[in-house]
Amino acid sequence: MTMEYTDRLTRVEPSATLAISALATELENEGADVVDLSVGEPDFPTPENIVRAGKDAMDAGHTGYTTSAGILELREAIADKLAADGLDHDTDEIIVTPGAKQALYEIVQALVGEGDEVVLLDPAWVSYEAMVKMAGGELTRVDLSESDFQLEPALDDLAEAVSDETELLIVNSPSNPTGAVYSDDALEGVRDLAVEHDVTVISDEIYKEITYGVEPTSLGTLEGMADRTVTVNGFSKAYSMTGWRLGYFAGPEDLIDQAGKLHSHSVSSAVNFVQHAGVEALENTETAVEQMVEAFEERRDLVVDLLEDHDVDVAVPEGAFYMMLPVDEECEALRTSEDGSGDEPRPVDQAWCEGALEDAHVATVPGSAFGTPGYARISYAASEERLTEGIERLADEGYL
Ligand SMILES: Cc1ncc(COP(=O)(O)O)c(C=O)c1O
Repeated sequence: MTMEYTDRLTRVEPSATLAISALATELENEGADVVDLSVGEPDFPTPENIVRAGKDAMDAGHTGYTTSAGILELREAIADKLAADGLDHDTDEIIVTPGAKQALYEIVQALVGEGDEVVLLDPAWVSYEAMVKMAGGELTRVDLSESDFQLEPALDDLAEAVSDETELLIVNSPSNPTGAVYSDDALEGVRDLAVEHDVTVISDEIYKEITYGVEPTSLGTLEGMADRTVTVNGFSKAYSMTGWRLGYFAGPEDLIDQAGKLHSHSVSSAVNFVQHAGVEALENTETAVEQMVEAFEERRDLVVDLLEDHDVDVAVPEGAFYMMLPVDEECEALRTSEDGSGDEPRPVDQAWCEGALEDAHVATVPGSAFGTPGYARISYAASEERLTEGIERLADEGYL
């Protein structure tokens, strides 16, 4: 039988990163030692106290359904965390989700309808595009690659992109994939446009706790933004809890009520005992988070130095654990490679990433997956030894 699939799915492409991970797995299965710099998760275990709290919660019988929006104790802890960031939200303005991804999905479903315009800052995390397209929205993209991925110099371009037709703007600072942290002036520029054109803004702050010497401002704290900002955060990155699936969003009560319908009719709630572990994460994990962030900062410096040794300049990230490596066909490996496949020409970053994986056994993600060809995303959530090995291999094989 041939099934007929909905437009909402057929207009979405499978993730471009899949081709790279499929190739990496294939190589590993053949016995290759692949240095994986493509991963989007910390390489640290979940801190022990959080694991213990999860186990204790299971033992204590916290294994049934919870209130759809999440247990009150966790929403109170989240409200306290948000208040510390300057955001004022009651517990009934917060929904706890199985991961920040689900939070983003619910917000987009609540706000974006057929033909609605959504503005993204490129390079942008891969799933924003898919979520908007599944909701029937249209994308307008603003390229930040000419300004070292900073938003402030690109505010004029953003002003051209945002209009009264714009429904939603998605801001992600610190950014995946660039690691850029947007300045207060940039965020104020966003605020001015959002207020002028009556636009709702998602502030995806999932990397907010992972920064190096800068203190990112939450968009919702700016004057005029409280009633038009939906703040998204989660536990995956700061607490190394990717597989636990725990996140949340906070916003105006009306939006929470509407999105709450989708939440209750789809996931019901986040997992009960995981929510209890989340309380522990927010309340008692400061030192472990600090240690992890310190390690990331050292690795960032290491990678920037190693690349500099090979005359490669990158925009130095101030947050998250990614950086964008400029790649072009001038690198020795691509100049000398023969593309005899007869296939359609691929963007240079895809050729670079596939070549780097095949020849150097180093996995990275092509920038075109984030809307910005000409770069490869490196994740430095790997040990210093593996990072050094990866960069040296790329250099030896002519990719730097
Ligand atoms: C920018 C950004 N937002 C949201 C997410 C979703 O994270 P999770 O669903 O694991 O909480 C990710 C994960 O990679 C991300 O990079």
